[in-house]
Amino acid sequence: MTIPTFKLNDGNEIPSFGFGTFQIPADGSTYQAVKEALAAGYRHIDTAVAYFNEQEVGQAIKDSGIPRDQIWVTSKLWLQDFAYADAKQAIDLSLQKLGLDYVDLYLIHQPYGKVADAWRAMEEAQQAGKIRSIGVSNMTPKIWQKFVPNFDVVPAVNQVEFNPYFQQKGIRQIMAKDGVALEAWAPLGQGNADLLKEPVLTKMAEKYGKNAGQIILRFEHQEGVIVFPKSVHEDRIKGNQDIFDFELNSAEMDQLRALDKGKGMHDPDAPGVEEMLSKYDVHVND
Ligand SMILES: NC(=O)c1ccc[n+]([C@@H]2O[C@H](COP(=O)([O-])OP(=O)(O)OC[C@H]3O[C@@H](n4cnc5c(N)ncnc54)[C@H](OP(=O)(O)O)[C@@H]3O)[C@@H](O)[C@H]2O)c1
Repeated sequence: MTIPTFKLNDGNEIPSFGFGTFQIPADGSTYQAVKEALAAGYRHIDTAVAYFNEQEVGQAIKDSGIPRDQIWVTSKLWLQDFAYADAKQAIDLSLQKLGLDYVDLYLIHQPYGKVADAWRAMEEAQQAGKIRSIGVSNMTPKIWQKFVPNFDVVPAVNQVEFNPYFQQKGIRQIMAKDGVALEAWAPLGQGNADLLKEPVLTKMAEKYGKNAGQIILRFEHQEGVIVFPKSVHEDRIKGNQDIFDFELNSAEMDQLRALDKGKGMHDPDAPGVEEMLSKYDVHVND
């Protein structure tokens, strides 16, 4: 199976479908899950310094024997490392843990504090060939306007919470002006049972011989959104990517667009979020 790619605003082609690794522990489970995903045909892995599992992601990639240039690898810089010199060091540490010479995409994970410094370090790492594409995450319209107009390089992506219940209409309009791709975190609503049981999804699932998760992921794909659902179960890892043999029609797309509640689980603009995230130490085991 060939997974379609989307072209980013910097010219790079990203596999539109990948594998997420948030909350998979580094006790062998990440290695196993990534190994299964690669064997099932996934060629895009999303990790982060803050997931503490880069090492196992890298080992699974290495052991797969798949040529490096056929796998898209994303990692993310934590806000504790946003000061310029710290960011440079953190990028090298990420590469070291992953066992790679470069990452395909590196993101500002949480957009608070010394974002401008971090971005400059990322721009330089891109020029040095350590990162192919650079992007941001969790940027709302308010946060975007605060930082992005001052960047030299426009982000290639913004990775935000996105699923049928939270379709991010505001930030998508802003991003569209610069051709910035949207990457979905929680594309399945982190397994939200209410979402997966929506009658409109059940009906479409019956019609196409798919499950509700596959209908959601297909909807997101047709919306031009890059997805990387996470699972530690081999049947789901295999099943989630089986969405490229059917197409939702425009009436069905509209029905799914109508599920939007305009609100997600996480509000990056909420008071106290920056303070809470600033307490998280990603170097506790280094
Ligand atoms: N930038 C950020 O701040 C940020 C934040 C969160 C996530 N992310 C990235 O985005 C990726 C995806 O988001 P996510 O992991 O939070 O949520 P998700 O992919 O929407 O959902 C994962 C959850 O859904 C379950 N699941 C998987 N496939 C399913 C299916 N077919 N039917 C029912 N349930 C299913 C999984 O359980 P099992 O594992 O038990 O199958 C898991 O609990 C992450 O892994 C991470 O790489 C980024």
